[in-house]
Amino acid sequence: MKQKLEEIRARAEAQLRGVSTLEALEALRVQLLGKKGELTALLKSMGSLSKEERPKMGQLVNETRKALEELLAEKTQALKEEAQRREIEGTPLFDLSMPANVTRGSYHPITLVQRECERVFKSMGFTVEDYAEVVSDYECFESLNIPKAHPARDMQDTYYLENGQLLKTQTSAAQNAIYKKYRDALVNDGVPIKAIFPGRCFRNEATDACHENTFFQMEGVMVDKDISISNLIYFMKTMLSEVFRRDIKVRLRPGFFPFVEPGFELDISCLICGGEGCPSCKHSGWLELCPCGMIHPVVLKEGGIDPEKYTGFAFGLGLTRLAMMKYGVKDIRDLNSGNLKSLSQFTDDE
Ligand code: DAH
Repeated sequence: MKQKLEEIRARAEAQLRGVSTLEALEALRVQLLGKKGELTALLKSMGSLSKEERPKMGQLVNETRKALEELLAEKTQALKEEAQRREIEGTPLFDLSMPANVTRGSYHPITLVQRECERVFKSMGFTVEDYAEVVSDYECFESLNIPKAHPARDMQDTYYLENGQLLKTQTSAAQNAIYKKYRDALVNDGVPIKAIFPGRCFRNEATDACHENTFFQMEGVMVDKDISISNLIYFMKTMLSEVFRRDIKVRLRPGFFPFVEPGFELDISCLICGGEGCPSCKHSGWLELCPCGMIHPVVLKEGGIDPEKYTGFAFGLGLTRLAMMKYGVKDIRDLNSGNLKSLSQFTDDE
């Protein structure tokens, strides 16, 4: 029996040397150590041995099994390394001289006009403020002189969270926080509040080519002593002339917003016909662009600013609208479509 064991081991070693694939190695393992393998068969035949011989032989079989297992493991490792080496050698080298196939990223048209507006306002001393998209009823409505039952709320239905917060319907929602943030500098050091706050707004809208449930606005406020409508007109005209790179005429019409008094609709001379009248401006020569007004005393007071001493203007520029005008986008839904074909054709012309 001992002789048989040695024979098995010697043969296994020779066979192992000839094995060149993992499959063949597995077959050899089954042949040697499997349930019906040679070693198992030998163990089974031990019943015929004498009591004294049995433990010795058992030990010998176990030693042989162990040795064979080690040999098999070594061979497995060697075959795997070999396969890996061959795979690496077979992989074509990365050719650094090949021309690059790169799709360049681009800015979204709304980002482009936003950056342009920010640049112009910053150059006129305004700070650019970031603000939350989820806000309280107080921020979005109450602090803006729109109490719970006010009919102005009907125009701005939105998405409510279970905790009572809501997705902001207008960038005006940041006004109260901005006044509170800067009022000490205004009152104690005489630093005027000059801030713009671009942001994403949401409304429960039936969507069509002109309406979206998600759009961008840019609010702006300026508060100081003796601020008047002339200041408002100056800043709006300067900003729009820079953005459209030509002299833009503006006009104000009365408009109602609870947080301004007086409130206006600011129109610009039609960009298509230059004010002559065409289908784009419904033959009026004017395009409605930006609601604005003088900040309502109640709103200033709510922000901790004395309306007897300070006045200010506010405006709510529709960034989405502006982007559509500047780049001639006909359907507002294209802007949120994520369609790179239409969105990547605009460039920063700064
Ligand atoms: N928040 C208003 C809206 O979304 C727009 C607006 C109107 C903002 C007048 C203003 C303003 O700051 O003075 O309908």
